[in-house]
Amino acid sequence: MYNRIYNFSAGPAMMSEPVLEQIRDELMNFQGSGMSVMEMSHRSSQFRQIYDNAQADLRKLMGIPDEYAVLFLQGGVTLQFSMVPMNLLQGGGAEYLVTGAWSKKAFVEAKKFGDVRCIATSEDQNYAYIPDCSSLPIRDSADYVYICENETIHGTTYPTLPNTYGKPLVSDQSSMFLSRPCRVSDYGVIVAGIQKNIGPAGMAIVIIRKDLIRSDLDPRTPAYLRYDVHDAANSMYNTPNCWAIYICGKVFRYLLDNGGLEAAAQRNLEKAKILYDYLDQSNLFRGTADPAFRSVMNVPFSTGSAELDAQVVAYVTAAGFDNLKGHRSVGGLRASIYNAMPKAGVEALVDCLSQFEAEHR
Ligand SMILES: Cc1ncc(COP(=O)(O)O)c(C=O)c1O
Repeated sequence: MYNRIYNFSAGPAMMSEPVLEQIRDELMNFQGSGMSVMEMSHRSSQFRQIYDNAQADLRKLMGIPDEYAVLFLQGGVTLQFSMVPMNLLQGGGAEYLVTGAWSKKAFVEAKKFGDVRCIATSEDQNYAYIPDCSSLPIRDSADYVYICENETIHGTTYPTLPNTYGKPLVSDQSSMFLSRPCRVSDYGVIVAGIQKNIGPAGMAIVIIRKDLIRSDLDPRTPAYLRYDVHDAANSMYNTPNCWAIYICGKVFRYLLDNGGLEAAAQRNLEKAKILYDYLDQSNLFRGTADPAFRSVMNVPFSTGSAELDAQVVAYVTAAGFDNLKGHRSVGGLRASIYNAMPKAGVEALVDCLSQFEAEHR
């Protein structure tokens, strides 16, 4: 009745309809409060409950150990590209793995703050693969090792985490967050934007081992950019993004009620297989990422001709699908198939691509 379409956007992205329906139902009067969550004081007991439930449900969903703090911060993950080095560098330097556009941005930003090196990259093949991470040249002095675990634009993911020789691993999980189970204790810090697998844009979730939250930072560090400040204030140092936190809570609950992250992972693998199987047998299309490192969430593909790719984009758009144009830096097409994309959406896309292929033999 709402004429919703299959939206393959890389983010902001599709949300689950049952979640949107709950939000709709609560919009005018949230649980008898007489107001929407958008109008509610972040200091009210009602919002406090929303916040506490969201925290508790995320901890349950991911099995987050007590030694980790969970922060809901504004500024997206782009702000984390600065906050991570500002809070974690202690003079020992940091090692970055540059495997795509997002880790490169993080690396360029971090270099402003200290002795930050790129120790492995796949730039030589337009970031189509993940370099061998079994014996990286990590300095004894390094304060942390940084990766982007799923590169949204290039469509790659790490098959195994790098050996960091005990140094804290910082991972940008934006485009894979909550798509599968995650052993949080393998990481020092996990950062994730919520506009892919969760909800609206403009907020990042930071899961950080408490011993990495330092209070002896350069005193000129702006208060807003300090993890210790946000941790002490329960993510309410200033007015938080109440609306986004509320929606996060709804999505966490929805995932918990639908089999948790194990079940989400199975659904996601099944969807990705449908699309990759089609691309692998196609005579027209090919996936652009090395098959050993393919992302389950972001599937870039191409015909090999920019002109034909543009025709495919026009064709699928006319058929009612949206946001399939590849990122401007790589071209081609890209289907982002996050948690909320139903299997039927991927099947319908494959049917449409097959039809285009049949018409262009
Ligand atoms: C992997 C990754 N990291 C970081 C970002 C930046 O997120 P934001 O625009 O919310 O700051 C994105 C955005 O798409 C992303 O895909």
